[in-house]
Amino acid sequence: MSPLSGKNILLGVTGGIAAYKSAEVVRLLSAANASVRVVMTRSAKSFVGPLTFQALTGYPVYSDLLDVDEEAAMGHIQLARWADCLAVAPATADFIAKMRAGLADDLLSTLCLAAEVPILIAPAMNRAMWSNPATLENIRVLAERGIHQLGPATGLQACGENGYGRMIEADAIYQAIQSLLSRKGSLQGLSVLVSAGPTREPIDPVRYISNRSSGKMGYELARAASEAGARVSLVSGPVSLPKPNLDAIVEVQTAAEMYSAVMERARTSDIYIGAAAVADYAPIDADIQKIKKNDPSLMLSLERTPDILASVAAMNPGPFTVGFAAETESLENNAKKKLESKNLDMIVANQVGGREGGFESDQNALTVLWKDGQVRFELAPKKQLAHKLVELIAERLQYSRNPRNE
Ligand code: CTP
Repeated sequence: MSPLSGKNILLGVTGGIAAYKSAEVVRLLSAANASVRVVMTRSAKSFVGPLTFQALTGYPVYSDLLDVDEEAAMGHIQLARWADCLAVAPATADFIAKMRAGLADDLLSTLCLAAEVPILIAPAMNRAMWSNPATLENIRVLAERGIHQLGPATGLQACGENGYGRMIEADAIYQAIQSLLSRKGSLQGLSVLVSAGPTREPIDPVRYISNRSSGKMGYELARAASEAGARVSLVSGPVSLPKPNLDAIVEVQTAAEMYSAVMERARTSDIYIGAAAVADYAPIDADIQKIKKNDPSLMLSLERTPDILASVAAMNPGPFTVGFAAETESLENNAKKKLESKNLDMIVANQVGGREGGFESDQNALTVLWKDGQVRFELAPKKQLAHKLVELIAERLQYSRNPRNE
């Protein structure tokens, strides 16, 4: 059976002369029993007629974000969810710039923003446009965001010039999609539990103690683990992030609630990643009524919350346990102490409170430590770091189960 059998592939076609080659991509994918739907930009239709793609896929071509009939057949969000992968071929310089800017002014660019599946682009343009710093910068940013880039190839161009910018051949695009979708993830068959975000400890019905955690790192880790083939459950404190497509998401508020939700699931998990910024102290007996400002000063009595990470690490048998250490000073030393005192398999240390990275930021720099090793991941987008971290966790887990393999 073809590895593409039963897979749903969304093919975006933008306005370049190479658009005629996309018909062959569709033919190859369909012959491998994939289900293909095509989305064309308005300018793509100047190069190839939608009927070509309709005949090859057996479905009407989508092109208009605000078309009532198209939305009724399958709305754009539904279309994004339907796909196992989104490939844009050809991807013009203009479309690449739009993707980098995150614009959503037509159906295809909207889908690129809404899709939570792997995205591939096959750039196609004149060689000067390709080597322009603006395009190269756009491409670099997209690569950092995890967009897969196919080509371009070099050779004679439609404009008569010679150089880089030709779209790679249909067969190479087909092969790339096949290898991406048939990739066996490093966490295939494993179950991963991730905690993320802050907790809120109520003082009275309107006030609480919390921290600046945005939850971004934990959410990216949950996504990366899922993309690596794991069944992922996420226990999340209050955050304002879109919900990823996972096996389970449990929303909690307090450290005590997070403790219960994590402990309930940890025993049946292979890996626990404690990325949440759990409050260490919570007010003893929150007031039932709003506290009035009658007194010139106010004392709050706090008590320690349960240490979720240490409790999971103490389970026997228990999951491979990965903790985080948010530190403002002595990063490595403090992280090492936490690794030992909480008996963790791995700890991820990050500096907080500085100018770069940390809480609320989209990027971070991490030092990862385990019993007899460590590695440094320099400042990079959290999405990229999450993938690296997941690969490292998979490697260390494998080693801890079978130490002679290293
Ligand atoms: N953690 C936890 N439960 C708590 C407190 C922290 O599970 N009640 C976890 C966090 O999810 C993180 C790790 O412990 O993975 C370290 O959190 P951090 O705040 O850096 O350290 P603490 O252990 O709280 O120690 P300190 O605040 O003294 O640095």
